[in-house]
Amino acid sequence: MYEQVSHSLLNNILDELKPDIRRRDLRHFYTRLGANFYAIYSLFHHLYGKRADFQQQMVRLVEVMASRYIERPAPLKQLDIGREADHEWFLSQEWVGMALYTDGFAGNLQGLRSHLSYLQELGVNMVHVMPILKCPQGASDGGYAVSDFRDIDERAGSLTDLQELATDMRRRNMLLTLDVVVNHTSDEHLWAQWSRAGDGHYQDYYYIFDNRDVPDMFEETMPEIFPETAPGNFTYDETMQKWVMTVFNSYQWDLNYSNPAVFIEMLDIILFWANQGADIVRLDAVAFLWKKIGTTCQNEREAHLILQLMKDCSQVTAPGALFIAEAIVAPVEIIKYFGEDAVIAKECEIAYNATFMALLWESVATKSAKLLNQGIRSLPDKLDRATWLNYVRCHDDIGLGFDDADIVRAGYEPFAHRRFLVDYFTGVYDASPARGQPFGVNDKTGDARISGALASLVGLEEAIDHKDEDAISNSINLILLLHSMIMAFGGLPLLYHGDEIGTLNDDSFRKDLAKAGDNRWMHRPKIDWDKAELRHRHGTVEERIFSGLQRMIAVRKSTPAFADYNNRELLDSANPHLFAFMRANPHAGSDSVLVVGNFDASPQSLTLSDLSNRGQFEYGQLRDLYSGEAPTQFKDQLVVPAYRFYWLTDQRLY
Ligand code: GLC
Repeated sequence: MYEQVSHSLLNNILDELKPDIRRRDLRHFYTRLGANFYAIYSLFHHLYGKRADFQQQMVRLVEVMASRYIERPAPLKQLDIGREADHEWFLSQEWVGMALYTDGFAGNLQGLRSHLSYLQELGVNMVHVMPILKCPQGASDGGYAVSDFRDIDERAGSLTDLQELATDMRRRNMLLTLDVVVNHTSDEHLWAQWSRAGDGHYQDYYYIFDNRDVPDMFEETMPEIFPETAPGNFTYDETMQKWVMTVFNSYQWDLNYSNPAVFIEMLDIILFWANQGADIVRLDAVAFLWKKIGTTCQNEREAHLILQLMKDCSQVTAPGALFIAEAIVAPVEIIKYFGEDAVIAKECEIAYNATFMALLWESVATKSAKLLNQGIRSLPDKLDRATWLNYVRCHDDIGLGFDDADIVRAGYEPFAHRRFLVDYFTGVYDASPARGQPFGVNDKTGDARISGALASLVGLEEAIDHKDEDAISNSINLILLLHSMIMAFGGLPLLYHGDEIGTLNDDSFRKDLAKAGDNRWMHRPKIDWDKAELRHRHGTVEERIFSGLQRMIAVRKSTPAFADYNNRELLDSANPHLFAFMRANPHAGSDSVLVVGNFDASPQSLTLSDLSNRGQFEYGQLRDLYSGEAPTQFKDQLVVPAYRFYWLTDQRLY
């Protein structure tokens, strides 16, 4: 359809652009702007069309896109063109990620750069570098309270260090992921400081109120994110003598996206980091971007429109850069961050698969895959050109974010079951070897989440303390089993630094006042490089985990069936301890992989003839791609040892 309004507006805007923008060779920019303009205009109009300065704001928006395009380094522009041509590049099984804190991993950005070979040794080729921007000296929510969106915190290094890291990574064919904390700023950010000084223009960047009238209305329906340490969603600022919306910590001021200036500033910042070489931008806390009285202020429709607009604008300037949505919300809500009513992602190409993560932990506690099976079946299909970020652990707590209806279908009572899971992982439950801690306990609602290092949650710490070799082996097998699931499920697996060598809980944060109140620090480790060296000594815990993951990653990379083309079929194994699914090769048709994991402490059997139409596996000679061995079989019953997994192919086909 000929979109007259948007075309004429575009023509006006182009006339109004600054002369230096008009003069440049912006051929690719204009092609992309033309292709995306109708969507950009419609979204921007929907959000801000009632304002008298709408057209001025649109001009500013286009100027920002054009200016950042002009600044975009030539090698990145080249990459953009290549990725546009091969637009499904990130669905490949060849990508494997790791999230890490620069200081904990290797001191600073230079240290990280000098340890890239360690990551390559493991097979990791995407690195999520956790927040490195300027933030307060004391508590900063692990850097998620940003004081300057364009400056690297000196504790991490300098912009030059980052540019060198990005260039080095590109040379090694590794992807760089950086955070842009879009929902809030630190109260030390200049915008907050100017607000404090009484500048109304910047006070409009936040949600600031003279008295409690509006805050009280919001509080009626808004949940609390950190109920123990930062109860409520507003903080009284003594200097301004006003109330500021602070959904997370009291020093994190929520940005007001009903002000187009905020949207344009944040888009500018996203594009700035894309230009520094970020292949992927992780958009933090996206579920919270729009606030409305009478709602939970999460997952609002406008939050999605803002993300669509960010994506459309970023397509124009830096189309090679992808977005990750960090939206740790209910399963039916998470999927929407890919974008609704579309075939390809119109918001974020990648989203945290918090549902799968939580379900995996549920299976560890129950030794059963009943809820896992149920929960994954209820997860809506994702779009074609979009992919999950699958993870077992990350820097945050584990929230038990699965659906109550699924818990009931799996045969449990939701409240009691969640209570059991928290008790299990915090070691309250007698038979549990887990050593986690409750996080975000809310006495009013009964909610709680879980902190703790992967290895400590699966019982490795307890087993080592008791010098119990069997228990050590079980824990290692569980660590590998969990990773085998995220590597094979479909999507980008994201490991968490330290887990590859079985790093245990770290209690040292309790001595640091800025961290003591937040036990997520127990699983944000400082890597012990002497311990990491033990990965070379046969039989050590470090070697068994590291080499297991290394092998898994190598096999994943060479198995086309593990690419993410919606080519997964969940199988009904009839045995509640087993989680089984089939991955079909999207390019051929022949070499499918049968993935099966046993969450129980005893061997379990899978009846191959039960798997509908799986004749090829029923009568074939099975081989495990991971170990290279043929699994034990009795007639059509396959034996899966305790806490083990198989990635099976039918050998006859080779
Ligand atoms: C995200 C981060 C988390 C942080 C929160 C507020 O959820 O992952 O660590 O506390 O945002 O910025």
